[in-house]
Amino acid sequence: TSAKALAAVLAGMKAGVAFTGAGISTECGIPDFRSPGGLWSRNRPIDYQTFRASPQMRAEAWRRRFALEPALGGAKPGRGHRALAALLAQRRLQAIITQNIDGLHQASGVEEEQLVELHGNSTYASCLDCGQRYELDWVRARFEEGQGRAPDCASCTGPVKSATISFGQPMPAAAMARAGALSGACDVFLVLGSSLVVWPAAGFPLQAKRAGATLVIVNREPTELDDLADLVIHADIGDVFEAALAG
Ligand code: OAD
Ligand code: ZN
Repeated sequence: TSAKALAAVLAGMKAGVAFTGAGISTECGIPDFRSPGGLWSRNRPIDYQTFRASPQMRAEAWRRRFALEPALGGAKPGRGHRALAALLAQRRLQAIITQNIDGLHQASGVEEEQLVELHGNSTYASCLDCGQRYELDWVRARFEEGQGRAPDCASCTGPVKSATISFGQPMPAAAMARAGALSGACDVFLVLGSSLVVWPAAGFPLQAKRAGATLVIVNREPTELDDLADLVIHADIGDVFEAALAG
């Protein structure tokens, strides 16, 4: 079975890297982006230039962020997060590269030096002009006082944005460099719960495969890179890891 095939890969893994997308967090009650009912089926993404240029769209972005708070704020790590934390503790996995902004890898006990966040983090905000950091409670209080107007930076009046990376926004250079180094030097590269349509993130599985890693993809739906993978499992991440780690 596919769980047995995954178990065999995990048993031989010595310096693996996991690459996670929104699919690892759906069992935690956080919607993904591209499944039916996913975030992008409800709303079109607000890109970086639009956020910068439009106070109305800034307010809309913050309205959406606060609407997600009941799901994001209360979420606990799922079976996939816990399985990866265990593999890190066993030193079979070196690190996790994530596209997720939900903080659930940290919540499962993963340390900063074992985690690369490619698309930032939605648990705080920062000013796009001066970099000043703001906590979400500060933003929410200003948002409510201003009756749904997005707050500006208290020191420079610049736009305050959640510390996530939007389309059109430069990628975080240090995270990109770390992800590149990890992808070029791993024996197994595990993709979990990503459609692999968003670049440059989707370049890392490709880079790992070219450098000789065994590429494994676990995803409910087919992905862009299934044809290239050594093992493709179209199933629920939690179910597959539970079965594979049960032996
Ligand atoms: P997507 O929504 O594009 O893909 C998530 C994939 O996970 C889908 O193909 C689902 O079929 C699959 N999936 C969902 N639940 C699953 C489960 N329990 N078990 C197995 N598979 C499951 O999300 P990402 O690939 O993460 O970027 O999206 C990449 C980027 O696009 C995000 O980081 C975000 C978004 O725009 C930014 O915001 C910059
Ligand atoms: Zn500022």
